[in-house]
Amino acid sequence: MNATQPDATYRVIIDTDPGQDDAFALLLALASPRIHILGVTTVSGNVPARQTADNARRIVELAGHGHIAVFAGAERPMLREARPVVEIHGETGIDGWDWPLAQRPPEPRHAIEWLVETLLREPAGSVSLIALAPQTNLALALRLEPAITSRIARIVFMGGGYFEGGNMTPAAEYNILVDPEAAAIVLASGIDITAVPIDCTHTAPAPVDWSQELDALGTEVGRACAGMMRFFEIHGNKKFGTKSRPLHDAIAVGALLWPELFEGRRCPVDVERSGHLTTGMTVVDWLRQTGLPDNCLWLRRCLDPAELYRRMLAELARLPPVA
Ligand code: RIB
Ligand code: CA
Repeated sequence: MNATQPDATYRVIIDTDPGQDDAFALLLALASPRIHILGVTTVSGNVPARQTADNARRIVELAGHGHIAVFAGAERPMLREARPVVEIHGETGIDGWDWPLAQRPPEPRHAIEWLVETLLREPAGSVSLIALAPQTNLALALRLEPAITSRIARIVFMGGGYFEGGNMTPAAEYNILVDPEAAAIVLASGIDITAVPIDCTHTAPAPVDWSQELDALGTEVGRACAGMMRFFEIHGNKKFGTKSRPLHDAIAVGALLWPELFEGRRCPVDVERSGHLTTGMTVVDWLRQTGLPDNCLWLRRCLDPAELYRRMLAELARLPPVA
């Protein structure tokens, strides 16, 4: 990510598979006056594609931004089977809160069609893509219409792991494992890419009992976030033996808004697609031994997790006043 000014503003498209941490990321982006959301695209991931689309519509409406359109996308990865993880996110994908039904009807256009049409209308280098899910939509859009590449200023994606290994297999993180072919296409696109892997997100667990601070916001968004936080930590704390969990996707939005809170290195990154034990592994040439071009800023750590979550809370507090 090119060095950005602390008060830079962004025109963004968010690709997502809500997912509680996706919900936090969407709410953070919706709250920030520095982010203008052109639209939201959803994809098969944590739960099936129709469910992620419905979830995203419920989330934007709860935030009082029901005018933002949500487009349902790919219903399975490019080559592989879908891999929902209801054991982590619950049957709805955003368990932890009784979400009001979305009032706005689903958009008729497919996410990939809308992505291409919208990007071709935008000036060169004017749109930031925030990718919070398996990257099937983005890869298919790049293959369908390569000309969109010039419109995209940067991609910030949550996914991958190298120093931390994986969170779904010893080698692979979920978003990359589900569609490694898609991730490889995106990484080879030549677009300015910032990766927010579990190497980084695992250095930024939420404050223990952060849900109490979310509840104290006194808004329905705060109460929904508190409920989601409590649910999201059940599986993760048991699996990882932790007391709190990182909001992976929200951290990716944080990396766009506040790059000064993170450190990493530009280096060559590619994806293993055929390893018996390593499929979905992000292979990070941290020491640049391959001589390949640096195609990604790989974020290694968050420098001040407490400040990151303080800023997130302050942004979330902007969302609709007490109902
Ligand atoms: O590995 C974490 C990622 O997988 C997050 O995007 C989470 O929502 C799941 O999709
Ligand atoms: Ca996600």
